[in-house]
Amino acid sequence: MSLLGTLFRDTSPIRGDEPAWERELKQCEESSWATLRNLGAQKRHHLSERTTYVLSDVMKWLADLPANSIHAVVTDPPYGMIEYEDKNHAKLRKGRGGVWRIPPSFDGAKRRPVPRFTVLSKEEIVNLHGFFSSVAYGILKALVPGGHVFVASNPLVSTMTFHAFMESGFEKRGEVIRLVQTLRGGDRPKGAEEEFSDLSVMPRSCWEPWGVFRKPFEGTVAENLRAWGTGALRRISDVEPFKDVIQCSPTRSPEKDIAPHPSLKPQRFMRKLVRAALPLGIGIILDPFAGSGATLAAAEAVGSRAIGTDSDQEYFAMAKQAFRALSSMPTEKG
Ligand SMILES: C[S@@+](CC[C@H](N)C(=O)[O-])C[C@H]1O[C@@H](n2cnc3c(N)ncnc32)[C@H](O)[C@@H]1O
Repeated sequence: MSLLGTLFRDTSPIRGDEPAWERELKQCEESSWATLRNLGAQKRHHLSERTTYVLSDVMKWLADLPANSIHAVVTDPPYGMIEYEDKNHAKLRKGRGGVWRIPPSFDGAKRRPVPRFTVLSKEEIVNLHGFFSSVAYGILKALVPGGHVFVASNPLVSTMTFHAFMESGFEKRGEVIRLVQTLRGGDRPKGAEEEFSDLSVMPRSCWEPWGVFRKPFEGTVAENLRAWGTGALRRISDVEPFKDVIQCSPTRSPEKDIAPHPSLKPQRFMRKLVRAALPLGIGIILDPFAGSGATLAAAEAVGSRAIGTDSDQEYFAMAKQAFRALSSMPTEKG
């Protein structure tokens, strides 16, 4: 276990002697983990004793997952879907084009391309809804009752994504707002910047929504915690509950140098989510769109088991390279 894992894995000592239900929950975690680690024939990296990354399309993997085998999902999917489709993904790898564009620079710093979600057609928005409905159904089956989902989105498309989760049977429990300046929006009218110098075509985006959902369960939260270890969120401390606004600036170097994924999420933010997602620190986290493994590294850092999948060979390889360095990074502030 890493030093951070040792610090964060604070389960039984809080409550003194371990009750029988807690022992049983830990045994269930062990047996689910033994099954999941080697499930299916896809290529995989066992990144650590408690982390596995499988190279797989999300639908194939969710279809294979046993019911009630996952305790929380923390994931950053392709927000508009098309940005990671082959055609656009190939343009991104060339530098820019398609839905990927370089944000205008105001400080001389070199910027990486970010996707433009304003270009989605009506048909693509309907497809997006269909895709997230299928993902949500798959996750609903795999999660234990009371299991939470944290799913990232973007203000332009989040309504569709979050609606798909609600329609599939999840309870919406709120949204976590990550306060972050992404450099999306805020531009003057194209080609007439001087003529309309005091206008912006749309607001400059300063936040990132993460939908928070929970699989329904019967009985009280306390009963569900004893039965499945889920249903609540872990507090930040005795005097501070988990909160729905988190200030967190864009991912910086050296994280971006370790894992140069175009949508890398910062460890300081991901660790807060994965820690909150397992209320008793018992259970397995799934990230079905794992990219360079930021969620998996965060779970390792807080001492939790996690399994991730992604369909892209390059990101699968990147995560293997990046995992140790990301998970052992000290958490900086801001
Ligand atoms: C927004 S990125 C996740 C980045 C990740 N949070 C990180 O910090 O590295 C979304 C990921 O979803 C993957 N993806 C897109 N379509 C997929 C599919 N059908 N099945 C599995 N993964 C998919 C992409 O390859 C991409 O890495």
